[in-house]
Amino acid sequence: MMSSNHAKTENSPHILVLGMGGTIAGLAPNPTGQPLQYQAGQVQVQSLLSHIEPAVPKGVKVVSAQVANINSRDLTEGLLSKLGELVRTSLANPAVLGLVITHGTDTIEETGIFLQLTCGNYAQILGKRVILTGAMLPANVPQADGPSNLLDAIGWASSPIDNCPGGIYAVMDGRVCMAMDLAKRHGSALNAPIQGSPSSPVRLINPSWLSGVKAKEAAWTEDLPIPNGDEWPWVEILTSHAGARSETIALWLNSKVKGLVLAGSGMGGFHDAWGESLKLAVEQGIALVRTTRTGAGATLTDIPEKDLVGCLASGTLSAPRARIALQLALNAEKKAHLAGKSLTWQDFFARIAILPEIR
Ligand code: SIN
Repeated sequence: MMSSNHAKTENSPHILVLGMGGTIAGLAPNPTGQPLQYQAGQVQVQSLLSHIEPAVPKGVKVVSAQVANINSRDLTEGLLSKLGELVRTSLANPAVLGLVITHGTDTIEETGIFLQLTCGNYAQILGKRVILTGAMLPANVPQADGPSNLLDAIGWASSPIDNCPGGIYAVMDGRVCMAMDLAKRHGSALNAPIQGSPSSPVRLINPSWLSGVKAKEAAWTEDLPIPNGDEWPWVEILTSHAGARSETIALWLNSKVKGLVLAGSGMGGFHDAWGESLKLAVEQGIALVRTTRTGAGATLTDIPEKDLVGCLASGTLSAPRARIALQLALNAEKKAHLAGKSLTWQDFFARIAILPEIR
């Protein structure tokens, strides 16, 4: 195995591991006393790899590059653009057989959907896998989960798994799911980002999961453009709750916001107090998407009530994922108009919201 920060100069077949930071690269000052008090993004990805080197399957060459070393709660849109461009260029490199991305779990679901929507079809066409992974415990605690997650991710990226197409996946706690299905629904469990996601054991691929993957990939036939770092449209998430006020929406009418994701209650309904201001928002051209704050289940068109004209339901996308999807759809609309095509953000978003669910 080889690990280097000069990924561009490596010409022999290899797995490229990109470091983004997170708990997998975190250090606790008192690792045996309080493992949950730590700083994320402290250890270089090359060092994480050197610890697992003896266990990497024989014949698999691993090369690394540090893209960032952050706590993922500080993830920026500019960094997503940088990562997306790097993933695309790396996929195009014949020497790169597959990619692993070490990432903080707090916003891994945002990166997961971003990569699926901008690089998923490309990875599938090339038959290469991009695997996101992370950890819930810092690197220097005795029971650290990062090393086994990283090994599983390298194994999944490098082995020809029967019938499983190229694409964007995530590996955590011995299980694999499509990266666009990640949803962190627990603060500290070792399987937190994958807990509610349709997944399969890494070493024993479940046929019904695999057929779900294939159905989803068959429906995703064209990637969306990656916005330049300064080009991302401003989109906010607003949560409906008891005692919601019309001012919560009205405040945005005087801003430069381009879209709002409404995390509604139950099946994605929102407080009546928002109704009038939301109509004004639509009239002003602010894009609206509805999702549920419950953390699971689908938000469907005209359920529980008829939608405001122009407002789209998010399908199974959680609020953070719906936000990234809406940003990419708004950017795609802008690019389409520049190219003389009359496609709208709704045309692009609808393609995402109807992707088949894996059960
Ligand atoms: C982070 O997201 O960077 C910190 C939390 C984690 O990785 O689990």
